[in-house]
Amino acid sequence: MQVFVVADAPAAAEKAADMVENVVRARSRPRIGMATGSTMVGVYQSLVDRHKAGGLSFAGTSIYLLDEYAGLDPEHPQAFRNVIRKGLSDHVDLSEDAVFGPDGRAPDLEAEARCYDQLVTEARIDIQLLGIGSNGHIAFNEPGTPLDASSGVVALSEQTRRDNARFFSSIDEVPRQAITQGIGTILQARKILLVAFGDHKSRPVRDAVEGPVSVETPASAIQLHADVSVVLDAEAASLLSTARPGAVS
Ligand code: GLP
Repeated sequence: MQVFVVADAPAAAEKAADMVENVVRARSRPRIGMATGSTMVGVYQSLVDRHKAGGLSFAGTSIYLLDEYAGLDPEHPQAFRNVIRKGLSDHVDLSEDAVFGPDGRAPDLEAEARCYDQLVTEARIDIQLLGIGSNGHIAFNEPGTPLDASSGVVALSEQTRRDNARFFSSIDEVPRQAITQGIGTILQARKILLVAFGDHKSRPVRDAVEGPVSVETPASAIQLHADVSVVLDAEAASLLSTARPGAVS
């Protein structure tokens, strides 16, 4: 695992965007796994800037979402397809049909999750972006999730619903369930890139990077993967015990 510690959130977003750009430029048909959440906003904005200013092209790229709320109106701004559309795909040369995600309104959510799992597995993601929840979750895999799980329908913890209430008009509007890629599915990606910044992420980051691999911290499963980069700002890295190999200042 390589841990990069940079000064602040904008620097973390640039560093993460560098890694995504490298993959997009290196592959003829890049397959990028994308997370939503506030952490990724700056990363996607940087990719948009690179497209507009530097000619970074996403032609031939496919995007695969990590997860989706269950039951949310597909027109809702927080439906994750819309988040990616607004933050990235509307502003670059990515066609609508190059963005894949589970349908949170499918009549049979379990079947939808199985189908999406197969799609992601067959696609073989080149680089999977991950944020981390304040309780150590990745995608919507909450503490207690088996680390080899395939995609499924999950209940969101109260903590996650509270954390995500800021994106909705009230906590009551936050869905109680989601379809998520399982941890086992996520780990099939060729490369994992976890990004975190802010003091509130310092504890889950420490547990994910230095703690035991445990279902209590779903993000600790990244330790099981052979090609992982973690990009942190100084605050998110503040509880790590040592200066890490690969760290930059
Ligand atoms: C959500 C998403 C995760 C994301 C996490 C952190 O629950 N399902 O993919 O990593 O929140 O979000 P944020 O970046 O806003 O802290």
